[in-house]
Amino acid sequence: MAEISFPEDFIWGVATSSYQIEGAWNENGKGESIWDRFSHTPGNIVDSSTGDVACDHYHRWREDIALMKSLNIQAYRFSISWPRVLPQGRGQVNQPGLDFYSRLVDGLLEAGITPFVTLYHWDLPQALQEGEGGWAGRATAEAFVDYADVVTRQLGDRVEHWITHNEPWVVAFLGYYTGQHAPGIRDLATAVTAGHHLLLSHGWAVPVIRGNIPHAEVGITLNFTPGEPASPSRADFEAYRRHDGYLNRWFLDPLYGRLYPADMVSDYSSRFGKDMDFIQEGDMEIIAAPIDFLGVNYYTRAVLRDEEAAGNRPPTIATAPRSEWTEMEWEVYPAGLYRLLNRLTFEYQIPKLYVTENGASYSDGPDEDGRIADRRRLHYLRDHFAAAHGAIQSGAPLAGYFVWSLLDNFEWAWGYRQRFGIVWVDYESQERLPKDSARWYRDVIADNGFSIE
Ligand code: FCB
Repeated sequence: MAEISFPEDFIWGVATSSYQIEGAWNENGKGESIWDRFSHTPGNIVDSSTGDVACDHYHRWREDIALMKSLNIQAYRFSISWPRVLPQGRGQVNQPGLDFYSRLVDGLLEAGITPFVTLYHWDLPQALQEGEGGWAGRATAEAFVDYADVVTRQLGDRVEHWITHNEPWVVAFLGYYTGQHAPGIRDLATAVTAGHHLLLSHGWAVPVIRGNIPHAEVGITLNFTPGEPASPSRADFEAYRRHDGYLNRWFLDPLYGRLYPADMVSDYSSRFGKDMDFIQEGDMEIIAAPIDFLGVNYYTRAVLRDEEAAGNRPPTIATAPRSEWTEMEWEVYPAGLYRLLNRLTFEYQIPKLYVTENGASYSDGPDEDGRIADRRRLHYLRDHFAAAHGAIQSGAPLAGYFVWSLLDNFEWAWGYRQRFGIVWVDYESQERLPKDSARWYRDVIADNGFSIE
């Protein structure tokens, strides 16, 4: 039996996002988002579902706070729907939308739960998509700063922890290159441009947030998929390098003052047939604005094999032998989290880290007695917590951990087919049922640790 105990002030939380749980997509003056438009367009979501109702959290937030409280949750990471606050993306504020978040924050504080607010978790106002091409345009980055200003003025007296963006890689590359996410564009040069504007909007917003909230703790959340070559061959190493540049270094390096990775810049420039001319003078300094923490989203790793040795195409992700996989077909690989946290600590010297998302999709539902024995999720979480603990032991400044997700919810292009919740949601009745993993997590939090055999 090993006792795993965490530092005294370690923060245990859960995470969600607005579009995935709120519903009420057109209530009380909310504007349309690109995800409303995208999910309402046939062919985009595997089960043809939408976030119109989702978990109905917009109406059930009190119940959801009580649920968190019953699970000992110490911090709640949620996101704000930009078009709920600014229906046209800029200009006229929709006060009822802002009031919703204000009440939510009050409710959390009353329950003793610390709010961590993400400003952008993908639901861009559709008006900005139509007006200026969304993140492909610099004007959207400017609009983001006004939006950040409005929200932090309103909530800044009560919310200390701010995350500007969630996973800009996903926004840029799945939204504008593969087209699997809203707005469904498929063009690499546009994706790289969008990525730059996301980073720029972050860099511009950081001082605005600090100006409104002197004690703010400000950061950004990136998704990481650490990779490794499938074999010691030169070609597989190259595949690994490109994958790491594409997915992990492209956003991380500029945030920490290292500029865009040179190997990828030459890769992209040769594919566009021109330089990255959307970068203006001073942009890279703005992007590297000092932040207080980095949010880390980790789910899986990639094993890279190059099947087109010479080409610049995205490398192939090989199957790792003898592995376990979640229903997303993501390999379960806790050691990847350990290595990632160490890399961020020792290679980038990042002074403070949070795991802002980690979790697993398994569809285990209630048995006759209403119990949900989601043993695989429980083991997934336990082994990843242990990996994070190991990283802390070796020096990683990890300050907290947010499980994705509190509730089963709308999993983007997968609709409701993937269930990441530690709490089961019956979408017919909107009943919430804590799974075994939630009960186990409640005890982990109470003990600030756990034991493994
Ligand atoms: C992340 C997203 C989050 C959720 C999980 C499974 O990429 O940030 O909204 O969909 O994946």
